[in-house]
Amino acid sequence: MNDSITEVINKQINTDADELARQRKCIEIAAQLVEDKSRNTGRDITYHVTTFGCQMNARDSEKLSGILEECGFVYEPDELAADVVIFNTCTVRDNANQKFFGHLGSIGAVKKNKKDMIIGVCGCLSQEESARAKILASYPFVDLVFGTHNVYDFARLLLIVLEQREAGEKGTVTSIREGTDRIVEDIPVKRNYPFKSGVNIMFGCDNFCSYCIVPYVRGRERSRPAADIIDEIKRLAADGVSEVMLLGQNVNSYGKGLDENISFAKLLDMVGEVDGIRRIRFMTSHPKDLSDELIDVMASSQKICNHIHLPLQSGSSRILESMNRHYTKESYIELAQKIRERISDISITTDIIIGYPGETDADVDDTIDVIEKVAFDGAFTFIYSKRTGTPAASMPDQVSAQKVKYNFDRVLARVQEISARQAAKIEGRIMDVLVEDVNRQDPSLVTGRLSNNLNVHFPGDESLIGKIVNVKLTQCKGFYYIGDIATGGDYGKVL
Ligand code: 5AD
Ligand code: SF4
Repeated sequence: MNDSITEVINKQINTDADELARQRKCIEIAAQLVEDKSRNTGRDITYHVTTFGCQMNARDSEKLSGILEECGFVYEPDELAADVVIFNTCTVRDNANQKFFGHLGSIGAVKKNKKDMIIGVCGCLSQEESARAKILASYPFVDLVFGTHNVYDFARLLLIVLEQREAGEKGTVTSIREGTDRIVEDIPVKRNYPFKSGVNIMFGCDNFCSYCIVPYVRGRERSRPAADIIDEIKRLAADGVSEVMLLGQNVNSYGKGLDENISFAKLLDMVGEVDGIRRIRFMTSHPKDLSDELIDVMASSQKICNHIHLPLQSGSSRILESMNRHYTKESYIELAQKIRERISDISITTDIIIGYPGETDADVDDTIDVIEKVAFDGAFTFIYSKRTGTPAASMPDQVSAQKVKYNFDRVLARVQEISARQAAKIEGRIMDVLVEDVNRQDPSLVTGRLSNNLNVHFPGDESLIGKIVNVKLTQCKGFYYIGDIATGGDYGKVL
């Protein structure tokens, strides 16, 4: 490696701004290497980022793609054909891990005949020590492993790998941090959609729900200063974004630990004032921290979408206590009813875990009771997955697979029945739809999203993508709608 590159890579960094400058320098050097390689081979040098898991990972992947594009790599839709493949992993449930390792094994077979391929693994799984050890021991063809706290450092790490290749050296470059020492924003981002974007408002989680690995792999909760968030959203709006999704593991506790005195509700108000932003969503709310102030702001805002994702996890107060959730069956129901009373037509969706240690049929009856009383508009139902290192993993009374299946099936059936009933309530209405895509199955249709997060398919073409249109919801299909652009009166116009 030449001395000036070594110096950039190993430079002592003292501030976030210095780090940003260093990352930009790394991109510049990498871009030269990519350009040379492209010239020598007479073709584009390509990349593919494969994302598993949640919206946080989706946002991180946009940052990884942005950096790769700035380096001159060209997007290749076929993962197996790309020169650089980055897997942004999730470890929240074990089946995702198993699937990922299977997938990694098969790409290893492809790499045998494609020696130049660069494979990187990042995200929550690489942040877990045992999973990382498994990658290093059993998948030595992986070139780069980094974690959730140093996505911003990707350009430098990639440059190290590229330089290693130039020198004909082998080995896995590994870089893991145990905490977020820097919040380096303003690194390049390639958005999946030009008109909508996720925005991180906080990182990590301090809740330590007893079953959950997230606090161990995403680290301590840390809020971004409001001014930085608003600046980012202003830039996005100027770049054509009309919908933002504010992202955090527990957005309701936004602001804790900041010098300024600010709540999540106040932040929402500030986001609502940004010109050009027409829809605001957020993920995820913890029921224990949801304030009346937030309900008021949601009720009075024209921009905040009519949807709240409010993970229940279990309807049994006994199980909730063991889960360390800090609310009861009754207080959850009361909260959901208060939200429904104050915000008409709001959609409430949730997450439910079945098979938590010690869960009985009676506990699941309680969960079903909450599903009925709250009338969820949608629910993700998960089979409990034992995550090593979490308190629940060493609890006695792990539930048998047979019992889990029985209870999972009855919860799912009830959820589907009730959410279909909820969705049907707005049949025949005319509502705003943000058009997202041409329909994949039928190109004469476009697919958009209602404020309440339901999808609608209706006749239209590419020119509508990114626009908000009035659509008549003609036919409810359970969890989505078929519609028609509404005509007459105020309708039919592109808003
Ligand atoms: N097993 C099953 N589901 C889990 N979740 C988190 N940890 C586990 C686990 N160990 C679910 C929760 C959470 C969602 C993102 O994932 O329902 O809200
Ligand atoms: Fe996990 Fe609980 Fe934090 Fe959500 S709030 S990420 S379930 S620990």
